[in-house]
Amino acid sequence: MAIPQEFIAELRARSDVVSVIGEYVALKRASRTSKGLCPFHSEKTPSFTVFPDTESFYCFGCQAGGDVITFIRMIENLDYVEAVRRLAARANMPMPEDGFDDGVAKAKRRIREQNREAAHYFYHQLYAPDGREALRYLHGRGLTDKSIAAFGLGWAPQGWDNLTKHLKSKGYRDDEIEQANLGSKSRNGSLIDVFRARVMFPIIDLQGAVAGFGGRTMEKDHGGRKYINTNTTLVYKKSQHLYGLNFAKKSKSDTLIVVEGFLDVITMAQAGITNAVASQGTAFTPDQARLASSYAKRVVLSQDGDEAGQRAIKKSIPILRETGLEVRVLRVPENLDPDAYINKYGADRFRIMLDKCVSDTEYTIGDIRAKYDLTQSANAAAFLQEACGVLAGLPPIERDIYAGKLSQELSVEKSAILSQLEAAGKKRRYAERREQLKALERETAGLDDKLNPQRRDHLRAARAEDKLLSALLTNPDMIKKAREELPPEGFVTDFNRMIYQKILDVYDGGGEVSVSGVSQGFSVEEAGAVSRLVNTREALQTGDGALSDYINAIRGEKDRITPSDIAGKPPDELDLYLKQLREKKK
Ligand code: CTP
Ligand code: MN
Repeated sequence: MAIPQEFIAELRARSDVVSVIGEYVALKRASRTSKGLCPFHSEKTPSFTVFPDTESFYCFGCQAGGDVITFIRMIENLDYVEAVRRLAARANMPMPEDGFDDGVAKAKRRIREQNREAAHYFYHQLYAPDGREALRYLHGRGLTDKSIAAFGLGWAPQGWDNLTKHLKSKGYRDDEIEQANLGSKSRNGSLIDVFRARVMFPIIDLQGAVAGFGGRTMEKDHGGRKYINTNTTLVYKKSQHLYGLNFAKKSKSDTLIVVEGFLDVITMAQAGITNAVASQGTAFTPDQARLASSYAKRVVLSQDGDEAGQRAIKKSIPILRETGLEVRVLRVPENLDPDAYINKYGADRFRIMLDKCVSDTEYTIGDIRAKYDLTQSANAAAFLQEACGVLAGLPPIERDIYAGKLSQELSVEKSAILSQLEAAGKKRRYAERREQLKALERETAGLDDKLNPQRRDHLRAARAEDKLLSALLTNPDMIKKAREELPPEGFVTDFNRMIYQKILDVYDGGGEVSVSGVSQGFSVEEAGAVSRLVNTREALQTGDGALSDYINAIRGEKDRITPSDIAGKPPDELDLYLKQLREKKK
């Protein structure tokens, strides 16, 4: 069911956009708007703007935008109803009907319930006769029954449909089981288990719900399928999770130790190191970095000692730094992972390494140093140049400290290093600026619009549509006239037509034509597009004259054949296209 409009209106009135967002972002007043550093992308100068007039926000850097509900959805990673509930609690408003649910929230709940059921099932199977070998495997890897229980490990038995049958007996439908990615359709159309004959690691989210699973085969020759993981579902996306964070956050440490694998986290916890999380095999994603930064001040990268692990460390450093985290690196020797290291040498030696781990910059410079034979003075210059390329990106104080260290190490005047840094810094800033400009150009040329891919082929039409939509959103009294002159079918791009249709629907339903009213039911990305239309009024003119101009421009573009329409078409159609072009020219 839907939440009543009156409730949403009241909630919005009681959730001042500046105060709500101000609880997350340090905002500075600037005439009619407020600005701050965008919480959704990394930036050094504020392009995140809150518009009290339109009760919305928009970031000119990353195009995030929408109303206050959209903001809460994005920053707290909630769906629409959850965000409304959160704001309602803040505003002391009881929800209209307790226990009510919309479709998505209900589907999510059903997935989480199934996951919990499956986790219990796998755990029981581990201690059933069928799981004997799996249990022996886990014990053989040094895990105690206590750790197995604490992390909820389990066994997905051999056979095709043990779990799916079990879930069906509990009342879950085939499509729900598929939605949880616990079952999938086989070639003959029957539902089979996704996890078969695998040791199971439940992945638990920050609310304590089972979000998904990783399953490890016990076969040595696994043909690359050592692990399989839950695909993206409504409640799980691998790149947004840190395995073990639900436990690590309870450790009350201001540091998170980042490892690669499930077993690293569990072995460390068993050894009393309870603040480890796993990135699950790859370099950190920006989402994971943001997540880590909201629970810790510092991370220690401790991925596998092998080459892949070191590559992951190098890629992770800038991503983590962007979020303001202090980054350190613990290089595990002998190509081992933390689990294997602790099993071989004991946890105490691992703790000693933890105490001695180096800063990310020392690690990076050490890595560069290893490439040069510094007994040759000719190499020192090349080493210095490469090292300065790294240091140039650091904040001034850090830069100065490392310049001092290098000066001592290489017996080079510090002033010489500083002037080299100056030059490297300029080059770097220039490259950054150019990159930004290029991105901006791509975007204004419409090449990068993911929401409206037709913009690429219909740039002029899309621009006219944008202007028309902007005009209607700011002057709803023009809607009636616009509809008379241009029905939704007259729009050229599907995305803009969809927004137009929504404006008409809201208007007809007596709702408020505003960012909030129009973006209800939209994804956060779509809400961002609406906010852009309202808040970035480049070249927006209003008045009847302009309205007809936009409509005429759209009409003129409607039947134009585009180069990509014609690509790969037979020659006679190509002739038609050329003829049309010639006629236009006349
Ligand atoms: N991983 C994955 N899919 C794979 C391989 C790995 O998702 N095909 C993830 C898992 O989360 C795994 C982590 O990457 O825990 C690290 O992989 P790896 O080092 O290969 O495995 P370990 O966890 O160290 O497992 P084991 O010690 O049992 O070999
Ligand atoms: Mn391992």
